[in-house]
Amino acid sequence: MILALETSCDDTCAAVLTPEGVIRSNVISSQGVHDQFGGVVPEVASRQHLQLVNAVVDDALTTAQTTLDDLTLVAVTQGPGLVGALLVGVATAKAIASVRGLPLAPVDHLQGHVAASFLPGVDAEGTGHTPPLEPPFTCLVASGGHTFLAHVGDHASFDVLGRTLDDAAGEAFDKGARLLGLPYPGGPHLERLAADGDPEAFGFPVSDQLAGYDFSFSGLKTALLYKLRDLSDAEAGARRADLAASFQRAIVEALARRVERAVLTTGAERVSIGGGVAANGALRARLAGVAGHLHIPPRALCTDNAAMIGAAARHVSALEPGEYDDLDAYPTGRRDL
Ligand code: KG4
Ligand code: ZN
Repeated sequence: MILALETSCDDTCAAVLTPEGVIRSNVISSQGVHDQFGGVVPEVASRQHLQLVNAVVDDALTTAQTTLDDLTLVAVTQGPGLVGALLVGVATAKAIASVRGLPLAPVDHLQGHVAASFLPGVDAEGTGHTPPLEPPFTCLVASGGHTFLAHVGDHASFDVLGRTLDDAAGEAFDKGARLLGLPYPGGPHLERLAADGDPEAFGFPVSDQLAGYDFSFSGLKTALLYKLRDLSDAEAGARRADLAASFQRAIVEALARRVERAVLTTGAERVSIGGGVAANGALRARLAGVAGHLHIPPRALCTDNAAMIGAAARHVSALEPGEYDDLDAYPTGRRDL
């Protein structure tokens, strides 16, 4: 059995997978404590991980009906992320692996988001299961910290086609939601509000003038800010759903048009999505049909989770006992993202 840990941000996560990559448990403990601050407070996140990690590991083992004795590999997110938060996962993984004499697989968080597509997906209705996706495919990862489009040629690596030059798509959702007075994290709240609105009501800029596959979302947030200043309080209040729907549409269009461009240019037949924003229903609906096949991970595998880290770990060369004693976390990406 593979035990995987993910503590790169504000979710304390542990999962158990079989050596063949079948998920036996996927426990996610979201640290609601940050919501009152309107964003993740790194030091608070580290302390929360420390308090939660052992219980989350126990829960993952119990749910999987397994014990530490059955483990063959321990996997952990090494980076990028909040360094104090990452260190809790790395230290826990090292401790479990070294006392059991097990190999340890350090996993890149972004590779993890890509590897979520190596696990079964859901159909367009979000109910029925679809088989895992095999490379090659084009993958859009859009989360709170990262947004990039990649060509996934094999299980162990990916080539970045384009990336955001400023805010990540999830960050844009969170900032827009904040301007609309919605709680943090804003993406799901904004999506719910947008459901009652008209996406064509306001013409927010869709940043598709950039050449290639790069993204830019910072101008969009400013456009919403100015629009809110132009409207009276009464108008803004009455049209919140329209504002949310139009704002969401601008993000979804920017993402979808890059995917379309990649499909046209590279001839990719299969596309997958990952990261927290891939949980967005409007994005999923917009991307349906852009390629011959769209792989949609279930929502729990889009937002941060440890099952995706376990899925990636199966294709990482693991370190043997004695080789990982000085393994360290890395806070920023190892590639230009
Ligand atoms: O992948 P993730 O859980 O964590 C990071 O690695 O950042 O992504 C979290 C981000 C947040 O910005 C959140 O607002 C956004 O994903 N998000 C959504 C939705 N669910 C989560 N954005 C739009 N629509 C959603 N349904
Ligand atoms: Zn993430």
